[in-house]
Amino acid sequence: MIAKRTHGLPLVGLVPQLVKDPLATISRAARRHGDVSILRIGPMDCYLLAHPDPAQEVLAEKSKVFTKESSLWEAAQSFVGKGIGTTDGEEWLQQRRAMQPQFQMSRMGDLMALTADAVREQVADLRRRARPGMPPLSLFKEVRKMTTRVFLRTMFGASIDDQELDTLLAAIRESFETVDKLLWTSFLPGWVPAPGMRRYRKAIAAFDSIVVRIIRERLDNPVDRDDLLNLILKSFDRQDGAAWMTMIRDEVATMIVATQDGPSLMMGWTLTLLCQHPEVEAQLREEIETVLQGGSISVGHVAALEHTRAALMEGLRLYPPLWLTVRKAIGDETVGGFDVPRGTFVFLSAYHIQRHPQFWPEPDVFDPSRFLKDGSATEHRGAYLPFGLGPHVCIGKHYGLAFGQMLLAEILRCFRVRLEPGTRVRPKGMVTIQPRDEVLARFEAIV
Ligand code: HEM
Repeated sequence: MIAKRTHGLPLVGLVPQLVKDPLATISRAARRHGDVSILRIGPMDCYLLAHPDPAQEVLAEKSKVFTKESSLWEAAQSFVGKGIGTTDGEEWLQQRRAMQPQFQMSRMGDLMALTADAVREQVADLRRRARPGMPPLSLFKEVRKMTTRVFLRTMFGASIDDQELDTLLAAIRESFETVDKLLWTSFLPGWVPAPGMRRYRKAIAAFDSIVVRIIRERLDNPVDRDDLLNLILKSFDRQDGAAWMTMIRDEVATMIVATQDGPSLMMGWTLTLLCQHPEVEAQLREEIETVLQGGSISVGHVAALEHTRAALMEGLRLYPPLWLTVRKAIGDETVGGFDVPRGTFVFLSAYHIQRHPQFWPEPDVFDPSRFLKDGSATEHRGAYLPFGLGPHVCIGKHYGLAFGQMLLAEILRCFRVRLEPGTRVRPKGMVTIQPRDEVLARFEAIV
């Protein structure tokens, strides 16, 4: 069987369109050619999967053949290095084993308690700043700052001042923008100039200096606690020299980035969707009032916040932060009955899979009740991929959701969040799925 192909221009194929607007380009291809099709990118035929069955094959059942060992992941490695999220095979397995203990259920109690403290602190800080009549805030930026601060504290025991936080977030944004382009231009011959490399190197240097500051602080002031930073430090035998520091730096950098975009975009999109659906927001408020009984959030509340959790899961369905992922076939294989020769890149669009009408009735409607007990959410493992699937499935999946429940509940307990009239909400899919325009919102304090 041969899949239908989207060609693009001679020599470069779809590269210019993918650099400009990957989500629109992929959406067009999926709409025209269906669940499995071919994208011509530079000189290569790549597969695009927009159906749960082949996605499950690639990510889970045939994960030994479809790996991250490819030049495409080098684009991400040029930013975060060879940490857990960008490697595969033996190198990846070792890192996964080293970090796994931090996310085991037996450890989660302490981690969650620390997270609840950090969440309360961040919302209280916003509460102090939010005065009546103050100008609207950038919703996604605000939750990104809160999220970053929470995870820096819980994973690395680190605090960060406003200026350093701005530098960190600007460096990550700048680097992501370059990685976005590198991802596609790496299909072109080496003589095609890479985009904006000087700015990219500057951004990496700024990011690195903060990462190294966090590591050095811990080395100078060791703590007797099994947080993620200590686990990382323990998993590499202490040595002097640059090579050792690079290994630690890569792990810490990867974790800072992993705890950045996923959780903060989950919060940003879910809050935005709640602003657009007051009837769902009202249900959540009712739940939060009943569960929290007027007090602030703590770990003990998480299990009972079912509607809050369902809203986050539905937000992740409509806007999976990592909406597009890629693997490379390291041997000849088949996917969905199609031959996939060794060396072929396979792109999987979670965004389209999670809106596939065969698996999700009224796929574009925000309806968190699908994820409530006895709701209509499909059981197909390949149909819901915000945390990936198979061996590389997100290590922080349960923790990330619990964090989201706590932050969302605490924000809704303290604020009525309203989008500024006229605010346009449209997604832009780069490496992650961001709002195309700034989403302005008013945070009106209610307690
Ligand atoms: C709550 C929102 C989050 C979302 C949407 C999310 C999404 C994802 C996705 C889609 C992957 C799989 C990538 C792939 O297959 O290539 C992944 C991997 C990963 N995530 Fe998350 N994540 C979230 C939270 C977190 C948190 C809170 C942590 C850590 C505390 C974390 C750490 C990681 C790590 C280390 C990996 C790499 C796993 C591996 O390759 O073995 N994530 N995440």
